[in-house]
Amino acid sequence: MNISKDLFGKIPDGQEVHIYTLSNRKGMKAKILNYGGMITQLWAPDRNGKYQDIVLGYDNMDGVLADRYYFGVVVGRYANRIAGGAFNLDGKQYKLARNDGDNHLHGGIKGFDKVVYKAEIVQREASPSLKLTYLSRDGEEGYPGNLSVSVYYTLAETNELSIEYAGTTDKQTVINLTNHMYFNLTADFEKDILKHELQINADKFTPIDAALIPTGELLSVKRTPLDFTKLTPIGSRIDEDYEQLKYARGYDHNFVLNKADTLSPAAKVYEPTSGRFLEVLTTKPGIQFYSGNFLDGKGKSKGSKIVKYRSGLCLEPQHFPDSPNKPDFPSTVLHPGRIYNSKTVYKFSTRK
Ligand code: GLA
Repeated sequence: MNISKDLFGKIPDGQEVHIYTLSNRKGMKAKILNYGGMITQLWAPDRNGKYQDIVLGYDNMDGVLADRYYFGVVVGRYANRIAGGAFNLDGKQYKLARNDGDNHLHGGIKGFDKVVYKAEIVQREASPSLKLTYLSRDGEEGYPGNLSVSVYYTLAETNELSIEYAGTTDKQTVINLTNHMYFNLTADFEKDILKHELQINADKFTPIDAALIPTGELLSVKRTPLDFTKLTPIGSRIDEDYEQLKYARGYDHNFVLNKADTLSPAAKVYEPTSGRFLEVLTTKPGIQFYSGNFLDGKGKSKGSKIVKYRSGLCLEPQHFPDSPNKPDFPSTVLHPGRIYNSKTVYKFSTRK
């Protein structure tokens, strides 16, 4: 495994942004920016051994700065929504940006997707890791506590990309970090993802209201179009007359993983034409499956191509949306003296 570094561009205040290429001997590679921790390319093999880029992304700084879809970035401090842009903690109310209707989304106006990280190459496992660090100051985007975060990206010879997140704070705060890659395993971003087959290791999901905020219940996926307990084509039920799908205009739901806390299989995706097979493992309690319903043809991605409707799917391992306001959901509170730690592995292989 090798990591190389090149200049990618500059942000408006003049700071340089670098692109790091993680590559293994098989031919897999990941290109990652220290701006937003953005994965701009991820090359994985098809069943004939051909490596191609299978994530939506940008090839220049202008594209990155104009991003409206969270392509490949670290989302934080709090991934997904916080209802009303407010929560109570330690006897105080904290007010956050309402950047999604009345609600707070993905850490606010300038979340962890839009900051420059300090980057270094460190050796923790058999393969070297790209380590990105960022200090989010007390009060940034309305959140309490100086929060110091590290994100480690490691590509193994086994064609596994792992992302590990760590965080510490000096005041009670909430934290929920994930990555927002959009996969299209055909490697043809002109195509939609509706023929990809998906399996999610979840018997329950957190139903949402019309603003995509969880109601607080856990519902069984049985006899609903959200039953992905077996590999099922994403498009086979997406247009069914089911209220949950209408609210999200497709899939945009948090699934309650059957096994949490330890690194466990969460989801699988199989793309029949290329044979590409992706397995997602995580330590987190939930995973957001988002079928790219807001990809609206307005933005442009690599090669200046228009971003097509549903041309990518996201599987975002996370804590449940709006947990800071839902006492029955697993807690996202981080206390001083404790370490937030979570890990996700994206494993690539092929099927005949
Ligand atoms: C997440 C959310 C979606 C949408 C995207 C970003 O996946 O669940 O509703 O906000 O991020 O466009």
